[in-house]
Amino acid sequence: MRNLALKRIQRMQPYKPPLDGRSAYGGMLLDFNEKTKPMQSKIVRALEKFVRSQKLQVYPEYFDLEKRIADYAGVMVNQVMITNGSDQGIDIIFRTFAEKGDTVIIPSPSFAMFYQCAHVIGNEIICPLYKKDDLAFPFEEVLRSLDEQTKLIVVCNPNSPTGTAVSTANIEKIVQKAKSAIVYVDEAYFEFSKITAVPLIKKYPNIIITRTFSKAFGLASLRIGYVIARTEYIAEMLKVRGPYDVNMAAYYSACAALEDRKSMECYVNEVIKKAKPLVEKFFDDFSIPYFQSSANFILFRPDNPKNVMKLLGLGGALVRSQNKQNIENTLRVSIGTVAQMEKFIRIYKKAILRNTKQKYAFLDRDGTLIYEPQDTYQIDSLKKLKILNGVIAGLQELKKRGYALIMISNQDGLGTSSFPQKSFEAPQEKMLRIFRSQGITFDQIFICPHVPNDGCNCRKPKTGLVDKFLRNVNRYKKLSFVCGDRDSDRQFAENIGITFIPMKTNGNFHEAIKSFLTNT
Ligand SMILES: Cc1ncc(COP(=O)(O)O)c(C=O)c1O
Repeated sequence: MRNLALKRIQRMQPYKPPLDGRSAYGGMLLDFNEKTKPMQSKIVRALEKFVRSQKLQVYPEYFDLEKRIADYAGVMVNQVMITNGSDQGIDIIFRTFAEKGDTVIIPSPSFAMFYQCAHVIGNEIICPLYKKDDLAFPFEEVLRSLDEQTKLIVVCNPNSPTGTAVSTANIEKIVQKAKSAIVYVDEAYFEFSKITAVPLIKKYPNIIITRTFSKAFGLASLRIGYVIARTEYIAEMLKVRGPYDVNMAAYYSACAALEDRKSMECYVNEVIKKAKPLVEKFFDDFSIPYFQSSANFILFRPDNPKNVMKLLGLGGALVRSQNKQNIENTLRVSIGTVAQMEKFIRIYKKAILRNTKQKYAFLDRDGTLIYEPQDTYQIDSLKKLKILNGVIAGLQELKKRGYALIMISNQDGLGTSSFPQKSFEAPQEKMLRIFRSQGITFDQIFICPHVPNDGCNCRKPKTGLVDKFLRNVNRYKKLSFVCGDRDSDRQFAENIGITFIPMKTNGNFHEAIKSFLTNT
């Protein structure tokens, strides 16, 4: 058979999200950024009423839904068009405003539908990349890429899968430069980020926004979203949309969801204010790199992401693999309720951290890494700070060999008038800055601020500071070590059951650890 489909369609791959096995999965679905709680009973009742109404054979009629959405979004009724999910909104915007050969700018990596729509039409796609280090929006590159050929600029705000937000001020600058192009802002996660370009619509004719009921409102299976734009553009886009593309089940559930906004707001608050910080703290505590996100998901970069995804899935939490340019080897986890994220953390610890062989270097600070003054013993001013010989080279070698660096130090009376916090912090921060400039970061820093008479359980050689940390990293003993210049360091190593590397006070750190490293 001769394939009569357009050549450019034949060249495309279908957008096939990894849905297989999801509906039968018994664990938590944290892979599609959906709402993680079931639909409220008010919406279920509205749907049941519709099913029993004996009107399912009748074509849809949308009554005042646009008005209700307009009130919610703070715009006028004729500035709203409802769509079959915001996916349809994206498709209609591309088809209404860009032709074959027109240039569209899609900051990347981003949501798959943008590329699908552009490829179907046959657009020239320019993809400025989100910044590799922090996944910041490529603002300057977008401005530079903009010219008379540009027909559409996509600003996914916040962006999926990076979580990056763009300020309204920066969107305005793009709009000001894009005089003859549409600036299309995807606000699928608006309820979580609370950032919106809606106020700009009054000032600029060329902004179009899509939003959805699929995320914070939890109606993903019902497929309803909406477009916000100038009245004139809504009128154009209505010529492209079909008259019945949104079904009546979606209609009734959207009406009920808007009536029960409190429930949505309560969910969003729990996700953003309570559950997300829990996951961030967990990633911080275990030195798992992640990116700041303004939405209900976090992109993180564990070691061996393929294995982590598999083990999390087996343990009861599905996450989504992301392996695109500048976000190589990352996973994306959707944030749900506090209870769900506590469960996610438990699964992560049990399935991954307990089974990961880790190498830890527990390093004393004063007299080992930095000069210990023989009069005051404590570094209480910037003047006294001196990095010891062999420290930079030694730490760099440890990093190269895959060691996690843990600083553990007794700082007698820290925070009291004899040793105020400020006097400690300035040299400590400077020291960390110097290390950072050499590519050295500490994975954990533990400081005991007590004096011997306090009888605390965290002053070396006691292990109170690290007990909780060590409970989660079972298989660390063989390759880990403590290095320090005091007997308390030796005893601390004994107490946690690992090798001790002695060091002469203010000696050469690299020399001290060399023979241990060559023998392991
Ligand atoms: C950025 C972004 N835009 C749009 C959508 C599509 O949402 P809808 O379910 O409304 O089609 C998604 C869904 O994941 C998304 O992440």
